[in-house]
Amino acid sequence: DKGNHKHFMAKEIHEQPTVVAYALGHYIDQARNLVAEAAMNVDFSRADRIVLVACGTGHYACHVAKYWFEQVARVPVEIDIASEFRYRDPVLTGREVAIFVSQSGETADTLAALRHARGRVGRAVSVVNVPESSIARESDVALPILAGAEISVASTKAFTCQLTVLASLAILAGRQRGTIDTAGEQELVRALSSAPGALARALAIEADIAPFSMELARARDVLFLGRGSMYPLALEGALKLKELSYIHAEGYASGELKHGPIALIDEDVPVIVLAPRDALFEKTVSNMQEVMARGGRIVLVTDAEGARQAGNEAWATLVMPDVHPFIAPLVYAVPAQLIAYYSAMAKGTDVDQPRNLAKSVTVE
Ligand code: M6R
Repeated sequence: DKGNHKHFMAKEIHEQPTVVAYALGHYIDQARNLVAEAAMNVDFSRADRIVLVACGTGHYACHVAKYWFEQVARVPVEIDIASEFRYRDPVLTGREVAIFVSQSGETADTLAALRHARGRVGRAVSVVNVPESSIARESDVALPILAGAEISVASTKAFTCQLTVLASLAILAGRQRGTIDTAGEQELVRALSSAPGALARALAIEADIAPFSMELARARDVLFLGRGSMYPLALEGALKLKELSYIHAEGYASGELKHGPIALIDEDVPVIVLAPRDALFEKTVSNMQEVMARGGRIVLVTDAEGARQAGNEAWATLVMPDVHPFIAPLVYAVPAQLIAYYSAMAKGTDVDQPRNLAKSVTVE
């Protein structure tokens, strides 16, 4: 049932404040502003590193989690695409916590990677939406993301719920490894608890996205840029746009632009910059100027302060709510999803069932 939405994807995008709040209810002790250790049952204290494995959107959730685990728990993190992990014979010590992220829990590459890892890693944890799935059953610990059924082939609410669970795990790892104290944990948990409200406010930019997405849909190529934890969001934004609107899109770390992709820039290649105001914002503004100097059209997705600092040279500016930097990856998922959604609507593609794609990829 799509409710009063035109597509399952729209419904699932709009469910995010609710489902993220529901997942937080499971992983966070809201009375004390601490993570709920018992709900996770993972011991990071003796791990020599964390290995995160998934495909597609799940892989980008892992990529965000790498920033979180490193920042909060100061533990080395490797991220891998499941099909690469499995076949490159990774060096495993038996002391790592390996985390397998999959909405369906049936993705063949991720399942094969899990089977390869079982018995070779310290602990094999899965982060899944379908609790009775193969990946959930075959892992040592299965953590549900509690997003509810996701029907649209393009993953949306599963991504933000995966991030919710991974953020909770990163905070837990910080506590167990002694890299954050109780006050530090409480600050991060409070930030995480503010995510549902921030997601709801982010959804309000829908009205601004629809008009320029009509224009964007005429492009043949689109670039997405981001720094730090916005880099994986740029990758996710590009994946969503490719899947849904069949427009060629690439995500790049903003600093990489000058190392090659800037050669693509002209007035026909829109560049979408995901950049909340943070310590690196000025560097991002100078990347934007490099693009504009070559006639490129910028869509800047930022907060009020970022919009003020950047001036009004951008082709379009989407003003997002102010959020704690820790949860920015969850909140900036919304514009990435909506840009793809409205571009697909403008092109008239099959939003919930894009060509050549299946919801669950059960062949390697
Ligand atoms: O069910 P999974 O999370 O294991 O699926 C992984 C990918 O196939 C999936 O995320 C795919 O990239 C989506 N269509 C992205 O929107």
